[in-house]
Amino acid sequence: MPQISRETTEQVLAATDIVDVIGGYIPVKRAGPSFKALCPFHNEKTPSFNINPQRQFFHCFGCGKSGDAITFVREYENLTFTDAVKKLASRAGITVVEEAPDPKEDRARRQRGRLLDIHREVARFLHEMLFTREATHARDYLKSRGFGKEMAVRWQVGWMPERPQVFMDWARAKKFSGRDLVDSGIFVQKEQGGIYVRFRDRLMFPVCNDYGDVIAFSGRQLREDPRSGKYINSPETALFKKSNVLFALERARKSVLKEDAVLICEGQIDVICCHEQGIEHAVATLGTALTENHARLLRRYAKNAILCYDADKAGIAATEKAFRVLAAESIPVRVVRMPAGEDPDSFMQKNGAEAFRSILANAGDFFDSVIDRAAAENRLADTQQRSAFARECASLLSVIADPVSRDGMINHVATRLRAGVPELRDAVLRAARKAKFQPANRRHDSEPEPEKTEPAAIDPVVGYLCSLALHSQAAQDWLGEQFETLHEASDHLAGIPLLESILSARPDAASHAAVNSFMAGLPEAQRLALLSDPTFHNDPPEEPVAAAEIALAELSARVLHRRDESVKAQMARPDLPPDEMIRLLQETKQIADLLKGINQRFVFSDRFAPSRKASPKPFDRRKPPFPGRENNS
Ligand code: UTP
Ligand code: MN
Repeated sequence: MPQISRETTEQVLAATDIVDVIGGYIPVKRAGPSFKALCPFHNEKTPSFNINPQRQFFHCFGCGKSGDAITFVREYENLTFTDAVKKLASRAGITVVEEAPDPKEDRARRQRGRLLDIHREVARFLHEMLFTREATHARDYLKSRGFGKEMAVRWQVGWMPERPQVFMDWARAKKFSGRDLVDSGIFVQKEQGGIYVRFRDRLMFPVCNDYGDVIAFSGRQLREDPRSGKYINSPETALFKKSNVLFALERARKSVLKEDAVLICEGQIDVICCHEQGIEHAVATLGTALTENHARLLRRYAKNAILCYDADKAGIAATEKAFRVLAAESIPVRVVRMPAGEDPDSFMQKNGAEAFRSILANAGDFFDSVIDRAAAENRLADTQQRSAFARECASLLSVIADPVSRDGMINHVATRLRAGVPELRDAVLRAARKAKFQPANRRHDSEPEPEKTEPAAIDPVVGYLCSLALHSQAAQDWLGEQFETLHEASDHLAGIPLLESILSARPDAASHAAVNSFMAGLPEAQRLALLSDPTFHNDPPEEPVAAAEIALAELSARVLHRRDESVKAQMARPDLPPDEMIRLLQETKQIADLLKGINQRFVFSDRFAPSRKASPKPFDRRKPPFPGRENNS
C-alpha cells in the first residue's frame, strides 16, 4: 500500500514530464506527436517503445510493458512505489509527505535531512578553503597530478585546513549541533568528551548519492604520513553505507547506458581522471571491495562491466571478487589489461587518454584474462596442468547466474584449455553444488525470488469500459449511472469490481495526473490489467458516451449469453422436475427476447469476441470503436 497521499502522487506526476524522465535513462527520439526508444525492458533492435507526452504514458508494443513515469522509474530502477515517487518528487523539487508517519521513521528522516544540510554546507566551505592562501600546497599538489581549477570546481574538491580550529569555528558559527556533527562522521567524539575533526590538511572529495547530494567525504593526504591512511573516508552514517555507494555513479549513469557498460576503477582519482578525459562511464567503490549491493545497483543501468584494477596481487584478487558478485547478477565482465604498477590515472599521465581508450576497447573477457595470466605464469604447459586449471575455473564458471552465458563460457574455456566440454560442465555442476552447501551462501539461496504479479483477469468489454471511464469524463459520468447493469454483470464477467472502483473514485478524466495517481493506488494486479488492455493506450473515441452505450449493450449481451449457457446446462440435467424445466424454458425465451432487443438496436463488431486475442494495434481515431451502429430508432 502506498504510504504517500494521492494528492502528493498527483502533484508529483503533474510536475513531471515523462519524456524528460525516460530521456534521462535511455536515448529517446521524437516520432511525430510521440517519442520512440529501444525498449529497456526487453531485448530489441528496432524501437517499439513509445512515449505519449500528452497522456504522459509509455507503452512497449514489443513486450507489453506500460505505465506512467512512476512505473517507469520503479521498474527501471527496481524501486518500491514509495521510493519511485520520492525520486521523482525530489527531481521536481516537491517535498513528499508520507501519511501517518511512524515517529521513529520521522525522526530518522529529519535527521537525514539535517545531515544532508551539514554535508552540503561543509562541501561548499571546504571548496572555498581550497582557494585560500593557506591552501597553496593543496592546489600545487592538484597541479602536480595534472588537475587544474576547472576539475576542482567540477568535482567540488575542497581542502580541510590544517588547524582544526578554523573548521570548528565555522561549524560553531553555523550552529550545527554537536550531536549532528558527530553523526555526520565529519567529527569524531572523544572518549574524554568533546569532539575533534576527523580530517586534517587533506584534499576533500565529496561523495554524492543518486540525486547529487553530498553524503560523505574522502580525504587524501597531502604529505605522506605513515601514521595515518593515504585516504580517510567518512565512516558509515545514516547517509553513507559504503557497500551501497559508488563514487561518481550519479554522473556516470547516462554514459553507462550509452556505452552499455560500466567501467569500474579502484580509486576515485582514477574515476575523476577518466571523466575529465571524457570517459564518463567510470565509477569506483570507496574503501571496500565490490559488494552484492553494488552489483544490484549497477544492474539497473549496466548490461556489462569492465574492470580496471591494478595488475598486482591485491588487484587480481579484487578482480576475481568483483567478477563473482557481478556474474551472480548476470552482468558479463571484461577486464582491462593494465601494465603492472599502473592505474588509469598514472597510465593516462604517461601515455595519454587515447592510449587508455585503446586498452579499454581491447578489454577481454574475464576468463581470457585468467587463462592468459596462467599461461604467462607457465601453468598450462601440459595436458595435466591444463585440466587441473580447468577445474580451478569451474568454481568461477559456476557463479555465472545466466545459464546461457554460463554454457557459452564453459565451451569457450574448454576450447581454450583444450579440455573436454562435458567434463568441465560436470566440474562446474559439482562446484555449484558445493557452493550451495557452504553456509555463507545459504541465506542468499533461500531468499525467495520476488513474485511477479500477474494482471487480474478482465473481460475485454469491461476493459474497454474502464479505459473509456478513465479517458472521458462524459463516459465516466454516464457509466456512473448504470450501476444496475454493472451489478448484474459482476457474476458473469471478470473485472467488474475494477470498473466499479473507477466509477466510485471518479478520478478526473481530464487530468492525466489524476488518472495516473488513481491507477497508482490500485492493487498491482488490477493496475496491470488496465495497462495490458490495448484500448487503454488509445485516444478516446470522438463520441465517448455513444461508445460507452454500445459497449454496455454488448456487455449486457455477453451477460445474457452467459446466463443462457448456464440455463441450458441446467436443462440438460437428467433428473430435472417438469415444473423446473418449464421455468428454465421460460427463462431462455426471456433471454432470447432481451438479446433480440439489444441486437435490433446495436450491431456489434467482433472486437470483443471471446476467442479473439487482445491485439496491441491502436485504434484508428477517425473511426468509431464499433462500426455499424444503426440509427437509433
Ligand atoms: P590506491 O592506493 O590504489 O590509491 O587505493 P589511488 O587511487 O591510486 O590514489 P592515488 O593515485 O595515490 O591518489 C585505491 C583506493 O582505495 C581506497 C581509496 O578509495 C582509493 O581511491 N583507499 C586507499 C582507502 O580507502 N584508504 C587508503 O589508505 C588507501
Ligand atoms: Mn593512483
